[in-house]
Amino acid sequence: MSAEAATHAEPNVSGMRPMLTADRLRMSFGGVVALNEVSIEIRPDEPIAVIGPNGAGKTSLMNCMSGFYRPQQGRIVFDGEQMVGRSVHQIARSGLARTFQGTHIFPGMTVIENILIGRHMHMRSSILQAFVHFHWAQKEEAQHREVVEEIIELLEIESIRHQPVGTLGYGLRKRVDLGRALAQEPKILLMDEPMAGMNNEEKEDLARFILDVR
Ligand SMILES: Nc1ncnc2c1ncn2[C@@H]1O[C@H](COP(=O)(O)OP(=O)(O)O)[C@@H](O)[C@H]1O
Ligand SMILES: [Mg+2]
Repeated sequence: MSAEAATHAEPNVSGMRPMLTADRLRMSFGGVVALNEVSIEIRPDEPIAVIGPNGAGKTSLMNCMSGFYRPQQGRIVFDGEQMVGRSVHQIARSGLARTFQGTHIFPGMTVIENILIGRHMHMRSSILQAFVHFHWAQKEEAQHREVVEEIIELLEIESIRHQPVGTLGYGLRKRVDLGRALAQEPKILLMDEPMAGMNNEEKEDLARFILDVR
């Protein structure tokens, strides 16, 4: 991906300062240059799509932003803080969530359980605390379940909430993966190839959910 590839057509209509800025990122693997001076700005409430053929560097860009890759050059500023060099977990805690090409779920666990996993960074109770302060931990879990129920309602997956995710079709699994990312209550959500492998109905549903989420 080269510099022009990631600039977006929408002018800065909001006038707001960027929530996330990537500045002249460079990422190469041996001789393969995946990102060549790529810059992008994302403002609050602004949906941005990065498009390009296979191998263009879209996933590499998201991997850099979310901390899975460390770019060899360039800066990433999220919510006023420099992100390059921080761990995936630290960046997630700062409020960045992502979905993956394919899915990133536990097939043996139910829909609710998978979405609850997205809450773990908001959970204070450790297993030990859960034993010592049983009631307090229970109360905390109840609050997390409330957020999860809201997400389940938003994504219209009430009827399958107790089903193991492995038994669901691809479109629904992608929806659960989105739910898991939303459970982080992120400030910014990166979705890698969200529509890949979906039929038209699933694509339309997902487009609606993305607008609702905003
Ligand atoms: N972990 C990696 N190791 C080696 N090469 C990689 C790695 N990740 C991406 N690449 C290479 O970087 C280029 C961009 O890939 P990628 O970011 O996956 O593009 P896209 O997501 O747009 O299809 C490709 O040539 C790919 O082979
Ligand atoms: Mg990709």
